[in-house]
Amino acid sequence: MQQQRVFSESYRLEQCFNPMTRRIGQAAAKWQELEKDPRWRDDPTAFPLSVADMDFWIAPTIRDGLIEQAQSGIYGYHRQRESYTQAVTGWMKRRHDFAVDPEWLVRVPGVVYSLYPVIEALTDPGDGVIIQTPVYQPFRTAIQRTGRTVVENPLQASDGHYTINFADLEQKAADPRCKLLIFCSPHNPVGRVWHEAELRELARICIRHDLMVLSDEIHHDLVYAPNRHHVLLRACPELAERAIIATSPGKTFNLAGLGIANLIIVDALLRRRVEQAIQRSGAGGSSTVAALACEIAYTSADEWYDALIHRLTANRQQLGNALERLAAPVRCLLPEGSYLAWLDFSGWPLTEAERQNKLKKEAGLFMSPGSWFGDHGRPFERLNFALPEAALTAALQRLAALASAIG
Ligand SMILES: Cc1ncc(COP(=O)(O)O)c(C=O)c1O
Repeated sequence: MQQQRVFSESYRLEQCFNPMTRRIGQAAAKWQELEKDPRWRDDPTAFPLSVADMDFWIAPTIRDGLIEQAQSGIYGYHRQRESYTQAVTGWMKRRHDFAVDPEWLVRVPGVVYSLYPVIEALTDPGDGVIIQTPVYQPFRTAIQRTGRTVVENPLQASDGHYTINFADLEQKAADPRCKLLIFCSPHNPVGRVWHEAELRELARICIRHDLMVLSDEIHHDLVYAPNRHHVLLRACPELAERAIIATSPGKTFNLAGLGIANLIIVDALLRRRVEQAIQRSGAGGSSTVAALACEIAYTSADEWYDALIHRLTANRQQLGNALERLAAPVRCLLPEGSYLAWLDFSGWPLTEAERQNKLKKEAGLFMSPGSWFGDHGRPFERLNFALPEAALTAALQRLAALASAIG
């Protein structure tokens, strides 16, 4: 206990967002490419801009709770606690004005994990599953690995602003072999926070053509004013029998490595089908540690979360300002939600491979290549701006220098 108190005093909120802690040698997924590069590995200002986790420290309250748990010395099996359920439903009510009945919750080891049992429960091999490209790549992989067919409903862009092509969605949904839509809300990578009217049109099409929906809302807490996230089932309660919401504290509280997510399934029959598929997978639930972190996050980390939104808002603005001044144009409508920006490099006279080589080798800018999100993404890079201000400033200066050399 003594150690925990000392720790709490030395780890304050204001330190969380500027730690300049480089995760070299920790097998951090985001850092592996950069740390293999001899030029950038030892540069203290070089941070990766790819995988969607944050180079910030977690909330002090969560860290204290995890330390206390680690010190207990016993890590046996556990059952879901009522306080856990109350924490999740409390967060959804407080932050999203969505009243969730505790019965509706299904705790799983991650959103990506949940794609598999949901697809298996709601479709048969060969059936079509619709995704709205460009989109988070594991959607496509899950459809392919479960032997279903990927059906693309590409988003349409006008001056960098993305919308759903509803006419195309309706046409694809009308095919009786299409059974499920995997919806991304807010959308990764284009950063849209969907309006209620868009959700209602989506719901109309799903009901008309008997389409089920898995709404991946993992980025739901990371939204910039005046945009507002609308939980699909709150905006469209008429989808209760055909929609599943996936939420998680993973992105919001930077807990991705712990592995935890919560499915919200209103309809008892639908929930039973998904739970049975989860049981068949042999997995499910989450570790004691992850459940504890989730519970603390949703009850005792509001101050940290508010400070996070403040930091991300400033970083987003800094990115926008820097992009406007580049000698060679990189276009981007700043995201309405998430800490991911979808940068259009089509103004640079380079192939994707040439561009990436220059960005990485010459400027130490390790972003996620656009083609990872689908073929149309080739002229794009996805930039993660959840990093300390000094590191972001250095990255944007190197981008400006490279753009001057190109432009
Ligand atoms: C849209 C989306 N869904 C799911 C995930 C990953 O979720 P999990 O770590 O819970 O599997 C990510 C991570 O980037 C994501 O962007």
